[in-house]
Amino acid sequence: MDWGMQNRLNKLIQKDGKAFFLPIDHGYFQGPTRCLEKPAETIKPLIQYADALMLTRGVLRNCVDPAIDKPFVMRVSGAVSVVGEDLANESLVTSINEIIRLNASAVSMSVFVGTKYENKSLTNLSKLVDQCENYGIPVMAVCAVGKELEKREARYLALAARIAAELGARVVKTYYCAERFEKVVDGCPVPVVIAGGPKADTQREVFDFVYDGIQKGAIGVNLGRNIWQTEHPVASIRAIRAIIHDAFTAKEAEDLYNQIITGKTQQ
Ligand code: R5P
Repeated sequence: MDWGMQNRLNKLIQKDGKAFFLPIDHGYFQGPTRCLEKPAETIKPLIQYADALMLTRGVLRNCVDPAIDKPFVMRVSGAVSVVGEDLANESLVTSINEIIRLNASAVSMSVFVGTKYENKSLTNLSKLVDQCENYGIPVMAVCAVGKELEKREARYLALAARIAAELGARVVKTYYCAERFEKVVDGCPVPVVIAGGPKADTQREVFDFVYDGIQKGAIGVNLGRNIWQTEHPVASIRAIRAIIHDAFTAKEAEDLYNQIITGKTQQ
């Protein structure tokens, strides 16, 4: 692997082989998402516990201090909205010049396997890989399911993840599924990170799926709403970090979370 590519991946995937990305890119199709109305305020107490941010160029330029000591994964697909016709009809919205100018450690874009726009999004992925590989910039494919949350099952996720890797993604982001998640990871020849999805009913649910996903081979998470939309975002991010980087079980993470929110462990 070329030095530049390896160096960028090393910034994102830590020495223990694990990775914890904090996504704040939701506004690109949802507008001012709850608890993300002012991204700078949302990330302020959280950023120290994440390995990298995931965001668009607009939020990067306007809401993130260039002196920040964290790498970022830049979302470069979009041009759709929740009130538009079809969320799967994304285009590539950021040029390779911008990606280099803004110093992204990686870029990400969504692929929509099994939709009317499957071919378009997969062709976009291939084009982006071609451009980014020229400059040693890794592409993370986001295996999106749009509004069809029932697609979060192993057969579909394994198919989408493998196709994304075959087309050249260096990292694949996919949803977790309770049954046979190992099928998704085992069938994908590049590292897999888990997306969070809509806010869960309890924090323990989140700790459970993060723990199980890691046990089954995921290298980490790209998890947003189940951190910054929760009642205790700092406790939440610290507990999740402990599962990823300190080998905590879900129960140990829950204990840490409870200690933090009751003030028994320093905030
Ligand atoms: C979609 O809006 C983005 O790609 C998010 O980065 C991704 O869905 C992960 O965020 P969350 O954990 O909130 O689902």
